[in-house]
Amino acid sequence: MDLSATAIATPNIALIKYWGKEDEKLIIPKNSSISITLDESLSTKTSVLFSSSLKEDIFYINGEKQDLSNNEVKERFNIINMLRQEANVNEHVAVVSENNFPTAAGLASSASGISAMVFAASKALSLNKSLFELGIIARQGSGSSCRSLAGGFVKWEKGSRKDGLDSSIRQIAPSSHWPEIIDIIAIASKSKKKIPSRSGMKQTVETSILYKARPEYAEEACISMEKAILSKDFESLALLTMRDSNNMHALMLDTWPPIIYLNQTSLEIIGEIQNLNQSMGKLVAAYTFDAGPNAHIITTKEHEKEIRNILEGIDGVESIISAGIGNGPRLLGEKDSIIEKYIKL
Ligand code: PMV
Repeated sequence: MDLSATAIATPNIALIKYWGKEDEKLIIPKNSSISITLDESLSTKTSVLFSSSLKEDIFYINGEKQDLSNNEVKERFNIINMLRQEANVNEHVAVVSENNFPTAAGLASSASGISAMVFAASKALSLNKSLFELGIIARQGSGSSCRSLAGGFVKWEKGSRKDGLDSSIRQIAPSSHWPEIIDIIAIASKSKKKIPSRSGMKQTVETSILYKARPEYAEEACISMEKAILSKDFESLALLTMRDSNNMHALMLDTWPPIIYLNQTSLEIIGEIQNLNQSMGKLVAAYTFDAGPNAHIITTKEHEKEIRNILEGIDGVESIISAGIGNGPRLLGEKDSIIEKYIKL
């Protein structure tokens, strides 16, 4: 019996960030978070095949065979086991994933990779799961990945249950609600991040003196952000976005030993965006940084050209990618499968 499916999913950029877990095992966050799902300018295609002709579980990312005994890989792959168990399927599985952007570009591919994998696997297994249910599974592979399962503006609700069964996603608004919004990504370093987010956020929760204030503030910021999105109030969105990025990176610096993801180029970008907003007399762009030095500039299409010009002039900016708002994962046809590109059946 062969069960297969192929899906495409895209990364998301958090406007109000997730940095800290309430439950390390179940991956329940300390606070809710809000993100924008990006369009297919950056995307991951994943094919999943459950088949009796497979002698072992196989996992390829960008042509590289993954070591399934490696902890990081295991965590990601475990969600396949959860779905396989639920569907009562005993066959081995092959998972093959390709990014349309270089992984070496320093852009997180885990969110698009995990959401594509969860989406494709659940379809292959004919598990009729809602996005909310898929989100509960995806967040156990990597927290922020659950937000890539829906398009547009997405909130990952922290929830209040100890078992985490109410901690999942909700779409605030589809991409069509505010299609003018774009994310201009400035690559400020291509190297892999030094401290993985999983251990970094644990260290922050355990040692940062300032962290105590974050969960309550971030929960309130989510409420204000949702209002800003629904009313298309760009200035409020921009202010909340920049302050939340600053807050998270301040907590990282307050962690012991300190965690510093931003580099000189990142700091220069912050200054230039401040200058731009000041010269315009209003907020027309917002910077935000995840666990790395690459800047995401959230703005509207009308300012794309001038912002790209500004970024091009900054020392250390290696490349610039623009992405619009996307619609979330989508299923492809049989003929789009990439399994046989890497695996002989
Ligand atoms: O889900 P993880 O383990 O990749 O954590 C990433 C957290 C940030 O990207 C820094 C913020 C966020 O909410 O996406």
